[in-house]
Amino acid sequence: MRADEIREKYLKFFEEKGHKRIKSASLIPENDPTVLFTTAGMHPLVPFLLGESHPLGNRVTNVQKCIRTGDIDEVGDICHLTFFEMLGNWSFGDYFKKEAIEYSFEFLTSPKFLNIPLERLAFTVFKGDEDAPFDEEAFSMWRSLGVKDQRIEKLGKKDNWWGPAGQTGPCGPDTEMFYWVGDEPAPAVFDPQDKRWVEIWNDVFMQYNKAGDGKFEPLKQRNVDTGMGLERVTLVLQGKKSVYETELFVPLFETLDEVRSYKNYSVERSAHERIIVEHLRAATFIIADGILPGNVDQGYILRRLVRRAIRQARKIGISSEFTSLLAETVIKNYCHAYPELSRNAEVIKKALSDEEKQFAITLEKGTREFDKVVEKIPPHIQKKVISGKIAFFLYETYGFPIELTEEMAKERGFEVDKDGFQKSYEKHQELSRQGAEQKFKGGLADNSEQTAALHTATHLLHAALRKVLGCHVEQKGSNITAERLRFDFSHNDKMTPEQIVEIENLVNKAIQENYQVAVAEMSVEEAKAQGAIGLFEDRYSDKVKVYSIGDFSKEICGGPHASSTGSFGIFKIQKEESSSRGVRRIKAVLMKG
Ligand code: ALA
Repeated sequence: MRADEIREKYLKFFEEKGHKRIKSASLIPENDPTVLFTTAGMHPLVPFLLGESHPLGNRVTNVQKCIRTGDIDEVGDICHLTFFEMLGNWSFGDYFKKEAIEYSFEFLTSPKFLNIPLERLAFTVFKGDEDAPFDEEAFSMWRSLGVKDQRIEKLGKKDNWWGPAGQTGPCGPDTEMFYWVGDEPAPAVFDPQDKRWVEIWNDVFMQYNKAGDGKFEPLKQRNVDTGMGLERVTLVLQGKKSVYETELFVPLFETLDEVRSYKNYSVERSAHERIIVEHLRAATFIIADGILPGNVDQGYILRRLVRRAIRQARKIGISSEFTSLLAETVIKNYCHAYPELSRNAEVIKKALSDEEKQFAITLEKGTREFDKVVEKIPPHIQKKVISGKIAFFLYETYGFPIELTEEMAKERGFEVDKDGFQKSYEKHQELSRQGAEQKFKGGLADNSEQTAALHTATHLLHAALRKVLGCHVEQKGSNITAERLRFDFSHNDKMTPEQIVEIENLVNKAIQENYQVAVAEMSVEEAKAQGAIGLFEDRYSDKVKVYSIGDFSKEICGGPHASSTGSFGIFKIQKEESSSRGVRRIKAVLMKG
C-alpha cells in the first residue's frame, strides 16, 4: 500500500465514523509562543480541546505536518525523522477510550483496512502515579479485543502521558501501539526497550488540565487525540526495513545519485545519505510555510538542518550545488498532497540555493580552522575540549551552528565548552547592541529631534496596537530614519481601515495630551512586575531602562527619546503590509501639525 493510499484510507475510515476532514495546519504555530514549530496535531487544536466549539463538529480527522527537532540526533536510524506526517482522529468531548481503542484496533487489524496480524502488535498503557491512576479502562479494552497480557506493558508518565511538556494545559494518559519489524517471529513477551518494536500510533486521552500550580485537574470536556506516523506505517505495510526504502524517500536518493553521478544500488543507504534527504525534506516544508534561514528561532533551526545536510553531502563527495535539486524532487513527490509546495517552489529553491552558496564559502575554511585547533591539542590530554571562544569564532566567522561544531567535535572524540560558547555569544550581543546604540546616537547628531520624536512615537504606536489588536502584538523589528518610522510586529491578519484609523487616533490623542517621557533604571524583574513591554530576552545586563510616556506606554528600551510628546505634529500611518508570516509592518510619519 502506497503512502497516498494510507492517507486516504485513514481519512475515509474516520469519515465513516462520523469525523470531518480538516486540512493540515502550518508548521509554524499561530498564536502559540511556547513552541517554534507544530510538533503534533494538538497545537492548532488546543482551543477545541479546551471547550471552544469546532465549526465542523466534535469529531475531526486530519493529516498534520510536524517538526520534531528533539529527534535530530536519531535521524539516520530506521524511523526517526525531524519532519513527519501525523494521521489523527479527534474527539472534542465526544467519544472517549472505548471507541478510540476500538477504532484503532479495527483500522490496524481489519482486512478491509491495514490488515496487520495481531501477532505483530504490542501495546503500552499508563501504569499510574501520584497524579493519576492506572489506566485500567485502556488495559481492559485491549484485552477484550483479544490482546494477550504479555503484549500490554504498563509504563509511567515518561512514556504514556501526553501533554505540554512542563507547561500547563490539556493532557492525559495515552496508549501506544507498536509493530514488530524484526526478521524472526515477534516474541511472545513484549519488551518496549527492544528497538525492533516500532511505535506506530498513539491514542491520547485528554482528561486532565495541568494547572499553574502543577496540579492535574479533571477537564470538563474529555477529548481524544491520536497520532499515527505516516512514514512508519508505510514502512510497516510495505515490509521494508526503514522509512527510507519507501516511495516517500526513494526518489530523493535517486536525485542524490544523479547529483554525484554515482548509482548506489544498496536500498539501505548510509546514515549520511539518510540525513541529507531527511533534513532537506524538512527544510523544503519549513520554507514552504514561510520561514527563511536565519540566526534566531525557526530560521535558526532551518539553517541548522540545511547546513548539517550540506556537511554530510561533502562527506560523500558532493561538492556541487544540490540542495535546490533535492527540493525540486521533494516538491514533485509531495505537491499533490501539499499544494503549498508548488506554490512556493521558486522561493524554496532560491532560499536553499542562497543558503548553500553562503555556507559553501565558509565551510571548507571553517573545517580547516577546526582541524588546526584539534591538531594543536596534545594527544595525551585526557579531556579533550574545544573552548567556547573557538566555538564562537567558528559560529561568527564561518557560520557554524554550535550544534555543528559539537557534531564535528564528537566525531573526533572532543567535547565543546557550551557554557563558554554561550558566554562569548552573550558578550558579543551586548557589545553589538552598544555599537548599535552608538550608531543611533551618531545619527541623532544630524536629525536628533526628529529621530527621537519618531522613536517615542514608535512606543506610542506599539502601545496603541496592543490596545486595539490585543496583547499578542509584540515588537519584531524597528527601524527609524530621519523621515519615518518602521515597526514590525506579530499579528496574523491584515489590519482593517477602521483599525488603522483607530490606532492613528489613539496615538494622536496621546500626542495632544503632551505626555512627559520619563525614564527609570530597574531590574528586569521589576520592569516585568510593572508591566513594561519590550524585548526582555534580548537583555543581558542586570539593569534595564524603562521609558514611560504618561500612563499610555511603558517599555524597556535603550533610548534616546523626546522629553514630551506635545510637539510631534500629526501621526499618520502610510503603509500597512505583511513583513513575513505572522508579522505585519507599519510605516508611519509625523507630519507638521
Ligand atoms: N499527540 C499525540 C502524539 O503526538 C498523538 O503522539
